[in-house]
Formats: sequence, structure tokens, C-alpha cells
Amino acid sequence: MIPRIDFTTTSAYKYLADHYITLSQKSLKDLFAEDSQRFEKFAIQLNDILLDYSKNRITDETLALLMQLARECKLSDAIKAMFQGEKINETEGRQVLHTALRNQGSTPVLVNGEDVMPQVRAVLAHVKEFSEQVISGSWKGYTGEAITDIVNIGIGGSDLGPVMVTEALKAYKTRLNLHFVSNVDGTHIAETLKELNPATTLFLIASKTFTTQETMANAQSAKDWFLAAEGATQADVAKHFAALSTNTDAVTAFGIDAANMFEFWDWVGGRYSLWSAIGLSIALGVGYTNFESLLQGAYQADTHFQEADLEENIPVILGLLGIWYNNFFDAQSHAILPYDQYLHRFAAYFQQGDMESNGKSVDRNGQVVSYETGPIIWGEPGTNGQHAFYQLIHQGTKLIPCDFIAPAQSLNPLGNHHQLLLSNFFAQTEALMNGKSEETVVAELQAMGKSEAEIEALKNFKVFEGNRPSNSFLIKKITPESLGTLIALYEHKIFVQGIIWNIFSFDQWGVELGKQLANKILPELEHEAEITTHDASTNGLINQYKAWRS
Ligand code: F6P
Repeated sequence: MIPRIDFTTTSAYKYLADHYITLSQKSLKDLFAEDSQRFEKFAIQLNDILLDYSKNRITDETLALLMQLARECKLSDAIKAMFQGEKINETEGRQVLHTALRNQGSTPVLVNGEDVMPQVRAVLAHVKEFSEQVISGSWKGYTGEAITDIVNIGIGGSDLGPVMVTEALKAYKTRLNLHFVSNVDGTHIAETLKELNPATTLFLIASKTFTTQETMANAQSAKDWFLAAEGATQADVAKHFAALSTNTDAVTAFGIDAANMFEFWDWVGGRYSLWSAIGLSIALGVGYTNFESLLQGAYQADTHFQEADLEENIPVILGLLGIWYNNFFDAQSHAILPYDQYLHRFAAYFQQGDMESNGKSVDRNGQVVSYETGPIIWGEPGTNGQHAFYQLIHQGTKLIPCDFIAPAQSLNPLGNHHQLLLSNFFAQTEALMNGKSEETVVAELQAMGKSEAEIEALKNFKVFEGNRPSNSFLIKKITPESLGTLIALYEHKIFVQGIIWNIFSFDQWGVELGKQLANKILPELEHEAEITTHDASTNGLINQYKAWRS
């Protein structure tokens, strides 16, 4: 059992609350002026990833208190409990062992006394064999042609991870074209299938439970589309459909050959499953060797998380900084801003990773919490975001801690594009930190020849308060390995925060209610009679839909 400690009752919390009162008066600019060693002190390198967290509203004392908080909340015990396979997902009675999927060590990982590593390796061997056959073209479709297109049908964790990683690693692409269908809106699959040939298309039905409504509906439509192709028979389904799931019975009932099933286990959470058989689309899209490197990169982060002192531990530092802003500065959201077009789904991926994990309001004792938990995660790649929402980050009324992520080397060196991009990356964190004083604004306006009256009318609008915190990740190059490390660091940050907030990060009961109600409403949409069983608004909307639908 992981500890159940209300962090607001710890001594560290009380000290932090006092410390906040003094520190919140200080500007980042002052903190840098007072301490020339900030960058050396508040930066950590893990292989080819440098985290600079010096542009945060912290001092040595803040960090020491945050570390004390982690210790009082017994974070190290919780880390051990996860890696050792304790059932820390208590409300579902499950272990949390996505780390076993990328384990490169020789130590057994026990689930109910049984080492799961042989099964993990067997599935990886299957992924390797299958992906190599499809990529080489030796796997043939029903007309004897090689596969050209892969359609991954899945949603949530069975979609977002593979989408994010295959986009991030597009520069390492195999000859196969990847498509992802997630939305139950028929438009998604219809538009995807429009450009495909059934004879050269392979469908991966990705669903941990193999019961998810959206995925099952899309899988059925894909099968119908395939079987409608000239000459395609039920027996040919085996050449064009594979399943990535924990549910063998449902996979076979759907008509997918057990030989084409890539298994994973209930100790892998959906939003932590890209490392499992769910990663088959990654292996197909970028090649098995690159998938393996992704796992190796994640393993390096796992080792770091388990072995580094808390003070030198990237996920611990990221997690505690988030607590600092969330629970003391009342920050409501956290922006992830990659300066890399390939990482354009990174924030979307961690919206599920973080918000489905820590969007909880009941603590591990089953009591409603009296403090804030998980933040709203959002973001878009720079520089697009700069021309959209950065205005609010710079001059709005909300404090939004940001993570900036950029590779030092571009995978597409083109003229001076990368320098232009990185000059923006550096400039934004500097601007957020330093802002622009009234004095500077006035001097600039004077230099432009503005009159006193004009300066007076304009100056307040042009002042930037600054003092807005950010982390910067500078990555030598986006490779499968560095990406694997980066993702796993973020995963562990979520874990750290869940431990401190005393919540269960690995269940997701909050997604159930909508599903239940949709199942109740579905039969009501199948006839024309007026609906009166809901509240006035829901009845009104359903009845108007019925009036308009044909
Ligand atoms: O949205 C709820 C959820 O259970 C996610 O946690 C999960 O990633 C997604 O649905 C898909 O589930 P499955 O892989 O079982 O289809």
C-alpha cells in the first residue's frame, strides 16, 4: 500500500506556506541578480537532455522545503512500491508496471509471484517478427500484394501515444503509411478509407479492453469495408486485421485470428500503454529497431527516477515545481510548448496522461480533498502558439507555468530556419522572466518620437510584468531514444504529483458516467417518439435532433 498522507498537514507544507509569502514578493529578475550560479545550480542533464529549471520562482530554500515535502510524503517508498509491482492502483486492484515493458535489466518483475519479463519479451519478439514482415513486404494481403497502409483503430491511450510518437519520429519513417482512426464520428473512418485500397491495407484494432464503443464501431466498419472489396472473404480477414489487446475472448469473437493478437496485461494503464503491444503501429511506422530504442530511452528515465537523489531527480523536481505553482501560487494550468513541429501532439498526449491521471478530487482515504489537484494541461508548438495564445501568458491575469522543449539539432536543416526557431525559444523564456519595465517602454516610445501625451496614453499597455516561470528542455536531437526518455520523465512527474496530492493516479472512474448515459440514450435515438425521460434541456436537445435529422 502506498502511504496516505495529507500533504497539507506536513511541516514542510506549513513552512512552504510561510516561505511563499516572502518569495512571492520577489521577481525572477532579482533572484538572478542575487545569485550568479542559478543556471549551474538549477539545471540537470540526463544523457542528451538538459533541463534548465532556473527560471522558476524558487530559491535554494524553496527547493529544500519541496524536498522535505517529498520526504514527509514518503515519495521514495512510493517509487519503490510502483517498480516492485505492489498493487498501487488500489481502486482497480492492479499493479502499475508499464516500466516492465521497457525494462532492459535482468531483474525479474513479479506480478502475483510470477516474473512477467518472459511474456513481455515474447510479445516484443512477436512485434519484431510481424513488423519486419510487413515492412519488408513479405507479409501479403489477400491479393498477394504487399501492405502499403496501416490503419490503427483505437482511442485515448490506444491512439494518442502511437499518434504522438509516430509524428515525433516521422523523420525515421518506414515505407508504410500510417493512419489513425479514433473518433466514433463516421467522418473519421470514412475520410481515412477514401484514399485506401483494401488489398494493401492492414488494420490494427487497438483496445486494452476490446469493448470500447468507439473502437468497436470503427473496427466493425473497417471489417465491413474490407469484406465489401472484390474477392475478399472472411478467411482473408487474418491477412488484414491484427488486435492489440488484453481481452483474447473478445478479439476472437470479433473474428481476428489469435495468431494476429498482440497481448498486453491489465497492469498496463491505457494512457501508459504505448510501450506495450499498443506500440505495434510505432514499430511498423518507424521500424522495430527504433521502437526498441524508444524503450531503451524510457528505461534510462526509469533508472534515473529510481536511483537519482531527490535533489537531482528530474521527475521529482518537475513534479514538485508543479505543486509549488498549483498549491501555493494557485496556478490553474500548465502549458507544454514544444519548439519542434514533430512534437505537435506532445501536449495533446499529456493531456490524457496528466489529466486522466491526476484529475481527481477524492484522496487515497476516500475523502474529498481540501486542496487543488491536477492542473489543466494544454499547449501547441512554438512558434504557432506565439501568434495565438502567448499574449495571455505574457500579459494576462493568470500565472501559467510553461515547459519549453526544443532540439538543438533539426532533423530538417533548412537555411536558417532552426536558428530562427531557437531564437524564439530562447527569447520567449527570457521575455516571460524579465518582462519589460515601464522605464524601458517609455524610453522606447521616446526614441520613436512620441509625444508626452502619446506616451502617457500608451505606456501601460506595453509594459510586461514578467516574473512568469518556465522550464526549458534542450534536447540534443529528437531520436527514438531521447524521445523515450522525455516521455518517461513526464510520466514519472505525474506519478510524483499524484503521490503528494494523496490521490490514485492510475484509475479513471471519471470517464464512466458519460459512457453509461450514452448507452442509455442510444436506444432512445433509434425511434421517432418524443423523449421525456431526462431533464428539460437534454429532452429538448434530443427532440430537436430527431426533428432535424432527416
Ligand atoms: O477514456 C477512458 C479510457 O478507458 C482510457 O483510459 C483508455 O486509454 C481509453 O478509454 C481506451 O480504452 P481501450 O484501450 O480499452 O479501448
